[in-house]
Amino acid sequence: MKQLLMLSCLWLSCTALAVAQKIASPNGEVQMQFELLKDGTPTYSLSYKGKPVVKSSKLGFKIKDDENSLLNDFEVIEREESTFDESWEPVWGEESEIQNTYNELAVVLNQKPTSREMIIRFRVFNDGLGFRYEFPQQENLGHFIVEDEKTQFAMTGDHTAFWIPGDYDTQEYDYTESKLSEIRGLMANSITDNLSQTSFSDTGVQTSLLLRTDDGLYINLHEAALLDYPAMHLDLDDENMTFESWLTPDVTGNKAYMIAPGKTPWRTIIVSDDARDILASRMTYNLNDPVAIDDTSWIRPVKYVGVWWEMITGKSSWHYTNDFPAVKLGETDFENATPNDTHGATTRNVKRYIDFAAKHGFDGVLVEGWNIGWEDWFGNSKDYVFDFMTPYPDFDLEEIRDYAKSKGVEMIMHHETSSSVRNYERHLDSAYQFMKDHGYNAVKSGYVGDILPRGENHYSQWLVDHYQYAIEKAADYEIMVNAHEAVRPTGIARTWPNLIANESARGTEYQAFGGSKPNHVTVLPFTRLIGGPMDYTPGIFEMDISKVNPENDSWVNSTIANQLALYVTMYSPLQMAADLPENYERFPDAFQFIKDVGMDWQKSLYLEAEPGDYITIARKEKGTNDWFVGNVNGETPRTSKIKFDFLDAGKTYIATIYSDAKNAHYKDNPQAYEIKKVVVNNKSKLSQRSAAGGGYAISIMEADKSETRGLRKL
Ligand code: NOJ
Ligand code: CA
Repeated sequence: MKQLLMLSCLWLSCTALAVAQKIASPNGEVQMQFELLKDGTPTYSLSYKGKPVVKSSKLGFKIKDDENSLLNDFEVIEREESTFDESWEPVWGEESEIQNTYNELAVVLNQKPTSREMIIRFRVFNDGLGFRYEFPQQENLGHFIVEDEKTQFAMTGDHTAFWIPGDYDTQEYDYTESKLSEIRGLMANSITDNLSQTSFSDTGVQTSLLLRTDDGLYINLHEAALLDYPAMHLDLDDENMTFESWLTPDVTGNKAYMIAPGKTPWRTIIVSDDARDILASRMTYNLNDPVAIDDTSWIRPVKYVGVWWEMITGKSSWHYTNDFPAVKLGETDFENATPNDTHGATTRNVKRYIDFAAKHGFDGVLVEGWNIGWEDWFGNSKDYVFDFMTPYPDFDLEEIRDYAKSKGVEMIMHHETSSSVRNYERHLDSAYQFMKDHGYNAVKSGYVGDILPRGENHYSQWLVDHYQYAIEKAADYEIMVNAHEAVRPTGIARTWPNLIANESARGTEYQAFGGSKPNHVTVLPFTRLIGGPMDYTPGIFEMDISKVNPENDSWVNSTIANQLALYVTMYSPLQMAADLPENYERFPDAFQFIKDVGMDWQKSLYLEAEPGDYITIARKEKGTNDWFVGNVNGETPRTSKIKFDFLDAGKTYIATIYSDAKNAHYKDNPQAYEIKKVVVNNKSKLSQRSAAGGGYAISIMEADKSETRGLRKL
């Protein structure tokens, strides 16, 4: 329900509107103040429970070849205030109903020398602020190029930040925890190698960024509804502790190509004095439009396995033959080429995974390296690289399709584009149609390497438009999308829930590329997951990668119990059991949790959380009475204390607790776990130790008396 209050006046004679405009959240705790400086520069500031969060910060744009830009000389000609209150049901999510309640202030500005209009729309929620710029249809503003967006976020001190280096092409970095003043000194070491990367500043960081203040506030800076605009990074002025927006440029250095009528994405500031509230915030989704797909019945959570980890670890290959240094679609003779004996996507191997999926109740099987073109797929700036339709000679598409169908398993398509984006767009319709013809309802797409058109960046406006085009077109074909290396999500899945996951961060694959920090997964939910789910690909049971591939000495910095907990703490409607079937067969009792764990949730409770240290979440599965709890722990061993008061009163449940054994450690002893079954009710309490890089996972199922016989009460 929207209620509107409009205050306006003739701008020539309007003095009342020159004073500061204030607006508070529905509960009054978050307060935003808008003010014009003497020179007509728009500014805002933000406070939470009376404490300053963002000091007076400038708003505006540097416009290319325009001496006035959209920076100053503004006056307020109108203000509109309104309130909004609704609840909506996501197609999938961490809860079945989301509350969307805010107070809104739209400030209509007129730039005096140019008579150009710009609206800044602020929405203040109980969990923070979102604001965006709007450019109404008008006489004096049509097309314009943003040279720089000059939105500031002036921090109140030298906060602790959980940051990854600002980069136009990748987010696949470990997080660094440091004071803002230390970013500059730590930048060089934080930039680790990637197949495509472009950093821009010694103090540039990416959103979603998490900050912790010395007086106990948690602040998340990000954006919502990134559409037809470049992704925003932040550059820090580390003398004044002020961030400024830094947009991803195109090949010519221009940032955004704008049209009036038009608007920017929302700039978001989530704030609380309790870290758990950052995880519970749905502001980013709320700032996106409601669902745009009429019939969403074909969109559903997917638990899957795949011919994948064996390639990531280097045990198998994506490519089929070693005969050629380069291959050309339609010309290279794959039929008569010598198979290389390491190709993973063979009919025989895929059937093994289908059998495994069917036996253990998985929905899907992903197969990578099934289509021709992988012999020279990256590093060659190759335009016509894949056609997404022609299988290698040892991958019998029809046989696999029929076999999967007979076993009740869905095949998941893989479209690696190798960032040849024009090539992907040329093939998109036929590739999606091909999927429908062969019974594939979900695709994992990927953008490894430098972008073609050459010189473009992964997060520039043109690419943001491409990822969106692929999502919307997929919706036409009723296809679910999981895009890797694409721009990080900004809540768009509210509108397009067929975007069931993204990668857009450092995923489990890096554990096989030398390892990730053991506390990485205690940071991601505060940062990357704010905008949408991640295809993190958890579930690794063999941490010594040399056991999978003797030539790879990587180590997975995690315990088995930690890997299990990820299915709860890293929310996603798409979850992989990423390890090899043979590794699951060695630990059938621990694997049981992955088989049991829910995928879609009625309710989520954030029991304990401190970024970089630990996260404990309890979730109730949709449509059952089952609960699942996950705890992930960072470098320091810790005892987690939780209450089961979320369970229904008067009911009895059996909890199966999968925890680190006493001597477990991510480095020395990652496979040491214990499983115990106990009887619990809503009065039960648990004190559970988690090892370094460890954690625990619990499944809690309602039980009747006869089932609990012989089990100890917690
Ligand atoms: C990088 C992706 O993140 C990974 O999952 C995939 O296997 C490779 N690209 C190949 O497409
Ligand atoms: Ca990747």
